[in-house]
Amino acid sequence: MLGRLVLLFSVASAFMATLVLGKLIGKEEQLLDSYTYVIVGGGTAVSLISLLIYTSPTTKQYTQGLTVANRLSEDPDATVLVLEAGIPDRKECAAILQRCLGDTMRTVYDWNITTEPQIYLNGRGQSLFIGKALGGSSMLNGMMFDRGAPGDYDMWEDLGNPGWGWDGLLPYFKKHFQRHREMLPNAAKSETFTPPKPEHVAQFGITYDPAVHGFDGYVQSGYPNFIYPQTTGVENFQEAMKSLGVAQSLDQAGEALGAFWSPNSIDPKNMTRSYARSAYFDNFVDRQNLHVYTSRHVTKLITEDDDEESGEGVKICGVEYVKTGDATKYIAKAKKEVIISAGAVHTPQILQLSGIGQKSLLEKLGIPVLIDLPGVGQNFQDHPFVTMALKLENVEHSVIDLELNASWDAESKALFYSSREGPWTAGSPNSIAFLPLSTYTNKSEILLGAYTAQEPGQHLRNDLEPAVTAGFQKHHKILLNRLAGTRTAAMEFIWLSGANRRFQMPLSISIAHPFSRGFIEINSTDPHAAPIVDLRTGSNPVDLSLLVEALRFNRRIVQSPAIQELAPTELTPGQLLQADEELLGFTRANLSTMFHPSGTAAMQPREIGGVVDHNLMVYGTRNLRVVDASIMPLIPGSHLASTVYAIGEKAADIIKAARK
Ligand SMILES: Cc1cc2nc3c(=O)[nH]c(=O)nc-3n(C[C@H](O)[C@H](O)[C@H](O)COP(=O)(O)OP(=O)(O)OC[C@H]3O[C@@H](n4cnc5c(N)ncnc54)[C@H](O)[C@@H]3O)c2cc1C
Ligand SMILES: *[C@@H]1O[C@H](CO)[C@@H](O)[C@H](O)[C@H]1NC(C)=O
Ligand SMILES: *[C@@H]1O[C@H](CO)[C@@H](O)[C@H](O)[C@H]1NC(C)=O
Ligand SMILES: *[C@@H]1O[C@H](CO)[C@@H](O)[C@H](O)[C@H]1NC(C)=O
Ligand SMILES: *[C@@H]1O[C@H](CO)[C@@H](O)[C@H](O)[C@H]1NC(C)=O
Ligand SMILES: *[C@@H]1O[C@H](CO)[C@@H](O)[C@H](O)[C@H]1NC(C)=O
Ligand SMILES: *[C@@H]1O[C@H](CO)[C@@H](O)[C@H](O)[C@H]1NC(C)=O
Repeated sequence: MLGRLVLLFSVASAFMATLVLGKLIGKEEQLLDSYTYVIVGGGTAVSLISLLIYTSPTTKQYTQGLTVANRLSEDPDATVLVLEAGIPDRKECAAILQRCLGDTMRTVYDWNITTEPQIYLNGRGQSLFIGKALGGSSMLNGMMFDRGAPGDYDMWEDLGNPGWGWDGLLPYFKKHFQRHREMLPNAAKSETFTPPKPEHVAQFGITYDPAVHGFDGYVQSGYPNFIYPQTTGVENFQEAMKSLGVAQSLDQAGEALGAFWSPNSIDPKNMTRSYARSAYFDNFVDRQNLHVYTSRHVTKLITEDDDEESGEGVKICGVEYVKTGDATKYIAKAKKEVIISAGAVHTPQILQLSGIGQKSLLEKLGIPVLIDLPGVGQNFQDHPFVTMALKLENVEHSVIDLELNASWDAESKALFYSSREGPWTAGSPNSIAFLPLSTYTNKSEILLGAYTAQEPGQHLRNDLEPAVTAGFQKHHKILLNRLAGTRTAAMEFIWLSGANRRFQMPLSISIAHPFSRGFIEINSTDPHAAPIVDLRTGSNPVDLSLLVEALRFNRRIVQSPAIQELAPTELTPGQLLQADEELLGFTRANLSTMFHPSGTAAMQPREIGGVVDHNLMVYGTRNLRVVDASIMPLIPGSHLASTVYAIGEKAADIIKAARK
């Protein structure tokens, strides 16, 4: 019985893959001579494609009932080419099921990046997983689907980016759910935010606010059909937070502060991953004017006659690419624009390889300087996290039981394939909290004072251009002002509820708004050599002090009656470590990346190290935009995917407006 179900499932999967391949480009001859838009990278931010191709509906299915078809057909000739270095997944367990979260890492779907030795973390290099696939990192991420608090985006606006504050972005957060009602009234897109099941509301007290969600688009968000019951402590964590005076957020999508139940990017119909591929590609298999070419690695941007930066800016006329792993070079021409969506590690690499970056770096490598733009690759931000591991005696099921108990795993698997219920639907942590500094430590004034006392640029790299340092000074000021209030989180607390492979019961903490800044820098003109990736995690020592205080708050959580019910023992750091120095030592030895690379093509004024303006146009160019996590000038206090989709949606409107 189970075998047959599995077989049915894989037949269905193979069918899906074939459908998708129908619109993928298979060979050079299928390409057009040139495209209106060439997009580098088929990752998370490609949501913008859907908008571009709506402008030219070519299939019956989508033109039917299209109320605004006329307006959208203004430019029926728009053509789009996406060049993606990775491949489409085969809808295997690793790609689409919570049960297999993590299994894509260090496989063909991962760029397999290792950072420089992190000198503030005892010299440990870090594996920085990044998706190399159709759908990019959304194809291998942890499927948590949350937003930053409104103030996090207001800081973007404060940096000189009109329209990028919370009010400007909220419609786009909703839009990747909502846009299509008016445009595609007959398309079977149904609900997208699926509210929690009544029994989960009753049992766990999950609350939500429909006003901040969308209900009719492509990215699916909601809760797994199974939430580990009290025996694993997920509710106990929420109870503990309450007892420590932490309020529960009505809905993280409206204000991600306090404790809450984070939704996942999961399809409610079959409990599979909802990601950029399922949302924005699989729905468009018949689009004649969207060409997606996978296994194609873009090596550099090309310009007409190496024209120098002039008043109007450089015009990019296409890109050079190779088949991944091959040497033959091809060119794809862009009539209107080139859009780079290669993610925060590879976007700056491509810019630098193309002569856009800090002059001294380009000259050192003998690359002709197209645009001297020192911010490229700087301002690298991430969310580092560290875990307090607990042993819980008084639990019926542990989150690692699926690993340890083959019979439970087999039962759960059967249940999954028969009814899409049970533990195989769960995996991502749902029970989390984002807390302002003063909520979790009484030392907030001392800690903020320590940041304030720092000399300008004191903990940045040496030899930065003054503009880049000035940008950081501005961040410093804006962040301090926000962190002193109660509407901006300083720390995330995560109670892992799912099938986690590595830890016992982990209570993880992660810095929401780090002051440390890293960088991405090419060290070779070879486009296949990975760039230098240096997170510089902990370079600002106060970041680490914030974590030390959060470890102490973790202990208060563990001491609360709700967690004491579970008979916990602290395995790491362990009660032997109490002093600041000891907890700091533990933190340096265990801190690692949460895989949120961002900030390396920051949207902010050029005078303060910005790379793109508020229309996402690269300074000094007239038709090159960046649309991905690199443009975030300050990392928001949240997991990044939903923000990247919102950036993609807003970019689509900007690009569309520019076509007029
Ligand atoms: C392991 C992991 C877990 C995560 N967990 C979560 C989570 O639970 N929740 C959450 O919200 N976020 C999570 N994130 C973060 C989130 O998924 C990313 O921030 C987001 O997907 C980044 O989107 P992007 O468009 O900037 O880049 P990507 O989605 O990475 O897209 C970049 C694309 O460009 C392609 N590319 C790069 N260079 C080239 C080139 N030269 N030529 C052609 N193509 C190229 C890449 O192959 C890739 O497909 C996680 C990330 C990882 C890696
Ligand atoms: C990843 O990189 C390491 C070296 O950094 C190498 O040993 C390993 O084989 C690579 N793995 C894959 C799957 O490419
Ligand atoms: C899950 O269902 C959605 C429709 O809701 C579909 O698009 C997707 O392909 C399905 N996934 C699998 C693996 O069957
Ligand atoms: C393993 O799971 C089964 C249910 O499938 C359960 O009956 C059994 O007690 C479990 N074994 C252990 C050692 O927990
Ligand atoms: C701060 O100090 C007060 C008074 O001692 C105490 O009641 C409170 O729990 C402390 N809060 C934290 C987060 O340590
Ligand atoms: C940069 O490249 C040079 C020459 O290949 C090499 O010696 C050096 O170690 C590299 N530096 C880094 C930081 O990777
Ligand atoms: C964390 O750091 C300590 C050293 O302080 C080390 O012994 C331990 O193995 C590390 N790992 C974990 C998961 O705690």
